[in-house]
Amino acid sequence: MSAPSSTSVAPAEAGAGLGLDGRGAIVTGAASGIGRATARLLAEAGARVCAVDVEAGGLAALATEAGCATIVADLSDPAACARVVAEATGPHGRLDILVNAAAILRRVAIADMDDALWHRLMDVNLRSQFALCRAAAAAMRPHGGRIVNVSSTAAFNGGAKNSSAYAITKGGSVALTRVLARELAPQGIAVNGVCPGGIDTPMGRQGLPEPEWSRHYEANVPLRRAGQPEEVARAILFVASEWAAGLSGHVLDVEGGLMLR
Ligand SMILES: NC(=O)c1ccc[n+]([C@@H]2O[C@H](COP(=O)([O-])OP(=O)(O)OC[C@H]3O[C@@H](n4cnc5c(N)ncnc54)[C@H](O)[C@@H]3O)[C@@H](O)[C@H]2O)c1
Repeated sequence: MSAPSSTSVAPAEAGAGLGLDGRGAIVTGAASGIGRATARLLAEAGARVCAVDVEAGGLAALATEAGCATIVADLSDPAACARVVAEATGPHGRLDILVNAAAILRRVAIADMDDALWHRLMDVNLRSQFALCRAAAAAMRPHGGRIVNVSSTAAFNGGAKNSSAYAITKGGSVALTRVLARELAPQGIAVNGVCPGGIDTPMGRQGLPEPEWSRHYEANVPLRRAGQPEEVARAILFVASEWAAGLSGHVLDVEGGLMLR
């Protein structure tokens, strides 16, 4: 028997016991990386996934591969966030799960960070999470649900060099998770966060070419490697599932032990 792969999950076992079958889910940032892996695993677990991203090409590929519905939207606009939830639920649909994974990273020293770029990072990374939580909470109100906000270890350790605005958005995401966990609990809505460390995605590889990228994680992460998007996706599925029925306001690190140092 061959050793099990650390990143592939057979469809039949993907959803076993998680209670995701038939759930209505929105996943943002689904054209790439962690969002894409999450949308794919949720679909394999039987959820009815609506995948959202500003990149139409990546969404089309995902739709073919995983059978997801898709919506192309720039989530920096709160009106677009409201439209996404309205379209994903439709007149008779039901929203059970929201995964907020869309984000951008820009590494710019504070001296060179102009106001337009600051606002862009806030709008894409943080205001979108707020606006989507607001619209999703209204859609979930009749029956409850689960929200997962993807933050980052940058919220706690300052992140990569010259990523002040990005790290601030991720700190805001953690605060949003904790505040809404308390506020939405009476409606049966659980709100949790996931904090990836260095993950092998286009964003994660930004600014550092091979072989320095691999060497960096080998030297600095206790597990001696960067994470894979599927590993973060599995943590997201867990907190979105019935297995995490007792969790709200929790922030789960998926970082290979990075935060131990
Ligand atoms: N990769 C890492 O090392 C790492 C580490 C910590 C946290 N994260 C977080 O994980 C999440 C996913 O990141 P990833 O590594 O998969 O990145 P990625 O760049 O692979 O994917 C991000 C996706 O967000 C989409 N997006 C960007 N702006 C958008 C907008 N305005 N509207 C709609 N969609 C938009 C992009 O098109 C892309 O498909 C992000 O929230 C990121 O901050 C990643």
